[in-house]
Amino acid sequence: MISFDASAGFPKPINLSSLPDEQTALVIKNLNLFYDGTQALSNINMRIPKGKVTSFIGPSGCGKSTLLRCINRMNDLVDGCQVEGEILLNGKNIYDDNINVPALRRQVGMVFQRPNPFPKTIYENVIYGLRLQGISNPRVLDDAAERSLRAAALWDEVKDRLNDNAFGLSGGQQQRLVIARAIAIEPQILLLDEPHQRWTRFQH
Ligand SMILES: Nc1ncnc2c1ncn2[C@@H]1O[C@H](COP(=O)(O)OP(=O)(O)OP(=O)(O)O)[C@@H](O)[C@H]1O
Ligand SMILES: [Mg+2]
Repeated sequence: MISFDASAGFPKPINLSSLPDEQTALVIKNLNLFYDGTQALSNINMRIPKGKVTSFIGPSGCGKSTLLRCINRMNDLVDGCQVEGEILLNGKNIYDDNINVPALRRQVGMVFQRPNPFPKTIYENVIYGLRLQGISNPRVLDDAAERSLRAAALWDEVKDRLNDNAFGLSGGQQQRLVIARAIAIEPQILLLDEPHQRWTRFQH
């Protein structure tokens, strides 16, 4: 795993083993994961810095997606998946029994390898999480939609067709749309599972 500090021009690797608590977003402790009894993650211990981009690099099947899914408890939805160990977010173990999992997923957003837009308009896709939070002020929603679509580099391509169905977008545009949807709720942590894969394919 590599973490970079890109604030000073060329990214410099960060020494994670000596990362102080106030600069740490997540602490992963003795994490083991089994799918139907077969171990997929073995004794993972690491710190992930706050406010930085951290990449997991490794061969296909080594467990990158599995580890990402642990961080917002998406593996809870996988039958036969068993997780042992701790992941501390703001000092609290997200695997504690009293954790509110939907609230955790608002704090830790995720974009998957394949785009998964909802069968709704482009606009409604982007503000979906805000509507779930009960926000209905049109100005707040419009501002959030524009800000998120700009941040995902999609605004210029869709600003005149916000009420079109999201399924009419190209694969790469759909991928940027789901990134905009994830950004819109301003999560503390954003997990990106190779969401650029389709873009690089389009470039070749
Ligand atoms: N839902 C599942 N049920 C059973 N086994 C699974 C499941 N998801 C992943 N695995 C297994 O866990 C291991 C890690 O898979 P994972 O998808 O995390 O790898 P990855 O590093 O993300 O690979 P890739 O680079 O191909 O996306 C693999 O052996 C895979 O077959
Ligand atoms: Mg993967």
